[in-house]
Amino acid sequence: MRILVVNGPNLNMLGTREPHIYGATTLADIEHALSIRAASRGVDIDFVQSNHEGIIIDTIQQHQRTTAGIIINPGAFTHYSYAIRDALSAVSVPIIEVHISNVYTREPFRHHSVIAPVATGQIAGLGWRGYLLALDWLLDTTANG
Ligand code: DQA
Repeated sequence: MRILVVNGPNLNMLGTREPHIYGATTLADIEHALSIRAASRGVDIDFVQSNHEGIIIDTIQQHQRTTAGIIINPGAFTHYSYAIRDALSAVSVPIIEVHISNVYTREPFRHHSVIAPVATGQIAGLGWRGYLLALDWLLDTTANG
């Protein structure tokens, strides 16, 4: 069983990017924590981070037949990428949208997600641990987890 974890633009800068908003945890730290949790439950994770919309879409398409679930933080694409939304909409596995910050307490443009209507659920504002919670949920609710 495999899970796909996708991080969008600027999330490669976690740790140094606006730490008062996103914390000091790096993306490598998050991926390490997810790997440990996945290994303890006997599943594999594919990690992809890209600053490019097309690469994120290619990644979703390439993994759609092999992944049992998708955890995605689309970054700012959350708010306007109909192309990523359409790619996710074509996938039949559960999709969890994760945001490190509470987007609903921030600037108004962050209050709307074009991804949310095609996601199974959303976690926002719980920091990097939101990714772990998403993984636990996927593993608890899929047949082989
Ligand atoms: C984010 C929130 C987005 O609004 C922002 O553009 C990001 C990160 C989050 O994880 O809180 O890049 O998705």
